[in-house]
Amino acid sequence: MDLRDIQLQQSVPERNGSSLSQQLFFALRQKILARQLSTGSRLPASRVLASDLGISRNTVNSAYEQLRAEGYVTSREGSGFFISAQLPRADLAPEAVSGKRLNQWPELSEYGSRLHRLSARNDKKGTMDNLPFTVGLPDFRLFPNKVWQQLIRRHCDRRVLMGYHDYQGYEPLRKALAAYLNSSRGMNCRSEQIVITQGAQHGLALCAQLLLNSGDQVLMEEPGYTGARNAFSAMGAHISPIRHSNNGINISELPETGDYRALCCTPTHQYPMGGILSASERMELLQWAERNQCWIIEDDYDSEFHYYSKPIAAMAGMAEQTPVIYMGSFSKTLLPGLRLGYLVVPEHLVDVFVDAKAFSSGETPLFTQAVVADFIEEGHFYRHLRRCRKSYQQKWEHMQQLCTQHLTGLMTPVAQSAGMHIALTFDDQRMDDAQVSKKFRKQEFGSSPLSSYYYSSLRTQGLVLGFANTTGEEREQGIAVLKPCLDRSALA
Ligand SMILES: Cc1ncc(COP(=O)(O)O)c(C=O)c1O
Repeated sequence: MDLRDIQLQQSVPERNGSSLSQQLFFALRQKILARQLSTGSRLPASRVLASDLGISRNTVNSAYEQLRAEGYVTSREGSGFFISAQLPRADLAPEAVSGKRLNQWPELSEYGSRLHRLSARNDKKGTMDNLPFTVGLPDFRLFPNKVWQQLIRRHCDRRVLMGYHDYQGYEPLRKALAAYLNSSRGMNCRSEQIVITQGAQHGLALCAQLLLNSGDQVLMEEPGYTGARNAFSAMGAHISPIRHSNNGINISELPETGDYRALCCTPTHQYPMGGILSASERMELLQWAERNQCWIIEDDYDSEFHYYSKPIAAMAGMAEQTPVIYMGSFSKTLLPGLRLGYLVVPEHLVDVFVDAKAFSSGETPLFTQAVVADFIEEGHFYRHLRRCRKSYQQKWEHMQQLCTQHLTGLMTPVAQSAGMHIALTFDDQRMDDAQVSKKFRKQEFGSSPLSSYYYSSLRTQGLVLGFANTTGEEREQGIAVLKPCLDRSALA
């Protein structure tokens, strides 16, 4: 058997996972499947083939072993490798036989195809910059690393945390969270109602899977959180925007006719405009949801940061039973990198949410949950929140002052004394916010164009600036750099 026609690319040994032995394996497999090597015939001795192809004997042996493991050849002690009589048909890779690239791939599911279309339209891909003014970042400098490391050391060799665990989430964390939500967010929940998620985005995806069918109508506040919109659109839901008022979602615009399956909102700090829904508006919204048999997804992403008064209690806790799925996250209170969030769901839905989580993402990293549980239980969380609140309040005041001083006549802040970002609208609405944001980015400052939070074509132009993760110097420099970005060249 002469195999000297096999060509291997020595210069790119590991590219695309094609080491020399893999290349040899594919070349031999192709010859076997194309019947160029007949059944029962013997492969050359590894020493001979290695010398013919100018490669090492180990490389040949490893390709032969892989052919044997996959059933293309059999081995006989001391006599070598022989082409199998029965080739593994299930493994017949079409491109291995034809040697060509596939020009028609098998189809995706309806969900997959929809996502494919949506992601082709989305230009924002992959990783986010963590620049000064990038929206959504807490102050990394305030994170209590020392305490955190002590807690990690406490848990890192605990055997009970090393194996598989429970999908719903680590019980001590759920207990600590229930106590926190009941005392700080006016909830009235039991730890059994909490499902730990890999961030609030995971919670949104679970809600979309379990509450929505393709074609269902979903109401979303406008402007609103793009991550929620994406999760619902990917399920094939139709989004109906509701404009915001000064307080957040405009209650007077809630439709009294129509079939709406869910409504997603951020009542405690409207995202990104900052409105705060009053207690009576919350009650109205709840009554509307009950009348219309509509789920409310309450996204309570940064309610911990209200500066001059306590945040109003969460809607989910305003009555004995509410059609509300409550969603929270440690991304703002601790770090986004932890990927830790939680849902509070009505008792009868706990099992189905836990199953949906189990069948998609599986468990949430257990060591992190144990560390966060102790972090809350031992009072570090409350201390950390107090420190952050104080610092963000000063930063918020500084931002107001800088905007008044340098941006008057150009941009107007939508002033609400809460949160970690500030929304500013352009005084000249002919300005293109995407262009301004791009220019600002070139000078190493983050921001989000306000228009990107809109779903309908009636968009307000402006910028959203995250200030929590900035120093005083960065804020001053940033606003100074922003001003010239607002010149006439940014007119649409
Ligand atoms: C309004 C809102 N909801 C949800 C999330 C998602 O948070 P997480 O990082 O927990 O997925 C964010 C993140 O910035 C957000 O701004």
